[in-house]
Amino acid sequence: MIREIITYPNKILRQVSNDVVSFDEELHLLLDDMWDTMIGSNGVGLAAIQIAVPLNILIISLPDINDEHNKEDLIEAINPRITHKDGELLFIEGCLSVPGFHEEVKRAEHIIVEYYDRFGTHKTMECEGFLAVAWQHEMDHLKGHLFIEKLSILKRKKFEKDYKRDLKEQKAKNK
Ligand code: CO
Repeated sequence: MIREIITYPNKILRQVSNDVVSFDEELHLLLDDMWDTMIGSNGVGLAAIQIAVPLNILIISLPDINDEHNKEDLIEAINPRITHKDGELLFIEGCLSVPGFHEEVKRAEHIIVEYYDRFGTHKTMECEGFLAVAWQHEMDHLKGHLFIEKLSILKRKKFEKDYKRDLKEQKAKNK
């Protein structure tokens, strides 16, 4: 089931999420809804807080060479932790909670993460590039942060101005 995606500047997005304690049917339903919601909006990642659930859960699905998302390649991460980071990488990011905006952000190039899958099995993943960027972006959501916080002051000011103007225009259209 597709759920509503919370968008900036909704304060819910600033909440720090809590660890999942039971790997039950409820968690599985939530993960299935997160997949439906992410695919429904053509995203590559989604954190539970983006659908107003303050739990340490994120999913990532990078499109394949045919620009398709395969559920077999879906990463479902519960209570994830980044245990190692190195290098530097500039990458143009976007976010389903900040629709219509893309900007270059600096991240670690290479990371190691530890997490649990939907059945509570402990996993470790080492990755770099786009996948490492996606992980760091989604991990930030769990701490209540958005990628726009990483912009320079000038770029952030321009973003705020343009974003508010777009919001107003949309409201006017929906009236
Ligand atoms: Co995001």
